[in-house]
Amino acid sequence: MFSKRSLLTAVLGALTVDAAPALVEVSRRQSITALSTAQISTFRPFSYFASTAYCQPSTTVTWSCGANCAANADFIPTASGGDGSSVQFWYVGFSPSQNTVIVAHQGTDTSKIEADATDADAFLETLNTSLFPGVSSSVKAHSGFANEQAKTATAILSAVQSTIKTHSATAVTVVGHSLGAAIALLDGVYLPLHISGVSFKTIGYGLPRVGNQAFADYVDSHLDLSHINNKEDIVPIVPGRFLGYAHPSGEVHIMDNNQWVSCPGQDNTSTECTVGDVPNIFEGDTSDHDGPYDTVTMGC
Ligand SMILES: *[C@@H]1O[C@H](CO)[C@@H](O)[C@H](O)[C@H]1NC(C)=O
Ligand SMILES: *[C@@H]1O[C@H](CO)[C@@H](O)[C@H](O)[C@H]1NC(C)=O
Repeated sequence: MFSKRSLLTAVLGALTVDAAPALVEVSRRQSITALSTAQISTFRPFSYFASTAYCQPSTTVTWSCGANCAANADFIPTASGGDGSSVQFWYVGFSPSQNTVIVAHQGTDTSKIEADATDADAFLETLNTSLFPGVSSSVKAHSGFANEQAKTATAILSAVQSTIKTHSATAVTVVGHSLGAAIALLDGVYLPLHISGVSFKTIGYGLPRVGNQAFADYVDSHLDLSHINNKEDIVPIVPGRFLGYAHPSGEVHIMDNNQWVSCPGQDNTSTECTVGDVPNIFEGDTSDHDGPYDTVTMGC
């Protein structure tokens, strides 16, 4: 899924920073809390929406993609696109039962070499000022992820605007898994800069680090983000923090006993959270990347 170069990056990152042992746990009592069964089940429709983004656009625009579509049977699609290689699949529509516009992005398919190459293209760049007007130039994102988001940004924006209008929607939820989670997070930053009067939420699964510390801080102060990491998935620990990458807050970690816990702060180093649990990729498990997230395994 990730090229040799990004795996090397991950290893270096893990050995130099992520493995930094025994950080003194400051006694600020914002604890790691377990999610209830009811709280976990609220994510399930969105997990299916993220999984559905792996389906062909011709089947998402007609909402006839099989089990993934059936899991959110009342969904009303607006538009879809992408080719699954140079542009990840995406779709936009309205969920009456969740009462929100949904924007979903496909993740990285291991067989898609172009997407893989994109993942390896790791350097931090300032956000494009025409797409992200008013965001400080100190806020930087992974160039490959930013390029991917830029490819679909304006098509997504107009689909979201028309969906809001058609359904008098008051909420927009952006979802994705893997590379799709990275694009979703950038859409989560982008869309509110162009649309007002609705609330926004972003839910990512197996989210890699997308930007620098200023980016993570921007996300913390402007977005409602949950990013769910499954067990020993290595994707959330790349690119390494030593390269200047940081995760925003909002981690939910699925532990080995299948308990979901909410991890406070950015890159929480507790062993109950990803950074502590997966100090380097050798202690990770690539097969955890696709899930299952509760009952949902990503893919069409
Ligand atoms: C910024 O985005 C706009 C709109 O997508 C594009 O036309 C322009 O080339 C981009 N600028 C850079 C420097 O990438
Ligand atoms: C990680 O979570 C613990 C709660 O157990 C909290 O005390 C700590 O501040 C968090 N660490 C970071 C870096 O936010």
